[in-house]
Amino acid sequence: MGFKFIDLFAGIGGFHQAMTQLGGECVFASEIDKHAIKVYENNYGITPQGNIKEIDAEDIPQHDVLCAGFPCQTFSVAGKCAGFDDQTRGTLFFEITRILKHHHPKYIILENVKNLTSHDKGRTWQIIEGNLKELGYQLTEQPLIVSPHHFGTPQLRERVIILGVYQAKEPLTINLGNQLTKDDNSIYEVLDAEVDGYDISEEEKKVLTMWNEFYQGIDLDVIGFPIWFDWLKKEPPEDVSKWRKRVIERNNELYQRNQEFIDAWIEKWDNLEWCGVVQKKFEWQAGNRINTIWEGLIQIRQSGIRVKAPNCFQTLVAMVQIPIIGRYKRRLTPREAARLQDFPEDFKLDDDDKQAYKQLGNAINVKVIKKCAEQIIKSDK
Ligand SMILES: C[S@@+](CC[C@H](N)C(=O)[O-])C[C@H]1O[C@@H](n2cnc3c(N)ncnc32)[C@H](O)[C@@H]1O
Repeated sequence: MGFKFIDLFAGIGGFHQAMTQLGGECVFASEIDKHAIKVYENNYGITPQGNIKEIDAEDIPQHDVLCAGFPCQTFSVAGKCAGFDDQTRGTLFFEITRILKHHHPKYIILENVKNLTSHDKGRTWQIIEGNLKELGYQLTEQPLIVSPHHFGTPQLRERVIILGVYQAKEPLTINLGNQLTKDDNSIYEVLDAEVDGYDISEEEKKVLTMWNEFYQGIDLDVIGFPIWFDWLKKEPPEDVSKWRKRVIERNNELYQRNQEFIDAWIEKWDNLEWCGVVQKKFEWQAGNRINTIWEGLIQIRQSGIRVKAPNCFQTLVAMVQIPIIGRYKRRLTPREAARLQDFPEDFKLDDDDKQAYKQLGNAINVKVIKKCAEQIIKSDK
């Protein structure tokens, strides 16, 4: 099946991977980030053109499929009463419609965050859907919400996928088959057993060992609230929200039931005086699927140390903490992050890990696009 596609907001080419695997040829890409551009060039031998706003539609070659994972922006920046066109002008989505108006490619595949449909009280979605339909595209009745974990890649990453076919006779019907649940997945599918250079620090090991002892010593398997060390023994103040008050009360109740153990634990760990604010907060979100931190997936976040079951990674996102794999006492590597996005093993990652994590966090999952693209092309036969 030969076809030509363009890759807008190309990043490191999640769409490119999927569409070439389906037999497509990339005839144009656009991206502004210089690091992503280099990775794209290195892997595909194509140099993405820069800012899409500065590219004339006539200069883009003819194509059968337009692919774009565009940034989610509010259309109604100023003046809610302005005309429809005024509201869309200046947003990146409008760049897509500008190209569609000129080329009318047969297929469109667009991707965005899950809350696109509820963004700005539904207005954003209304404008997108209205524009695409006006341009002659039939869409699915409902926007598709798809995640890699549905297809056995252990990452929870729900995204809206918008599929459209130009001048199709009826709305598209898409059947993505039996989709898996979170618990059908396992993080070990993408992990290497032996890795050098990504170990957690000695201090992180100490903090996690400390909280593991706490978890194993108290009378709960499933802690349904955050543990705030500073509030275990203190009454809630008057001027806090209802939710905060309840969390503190539950911390107090836990302490009272487990006083002897907790007092000994506090003494053993030097009153936690060596811990930072974040290290004194602990959230168990792994239910009773595991009974030690060292089998969990751990994130050190502003809200504290969070432990989850090892079924799926949370959405990889640009610029945040890299998850810790309890069993291996190390962080996820960029290569493993690439597997979570279903990039092939021979994909050449950015040499700078920080950039690589960021680019992968921004990327679209390759398998998700492949599954969806296959469907629209099939549905149109
Ligand atoms: C959500 S990411 C898409 C990633 C891509 N789908 C992938 O698989 O790697 C959006 C990308 O749009 C790029 N971008 C933002 N504004 C742009 C513009 N005006 N022209 C071209 N690219 C732009 C960003 O640098 C970013 O890499």
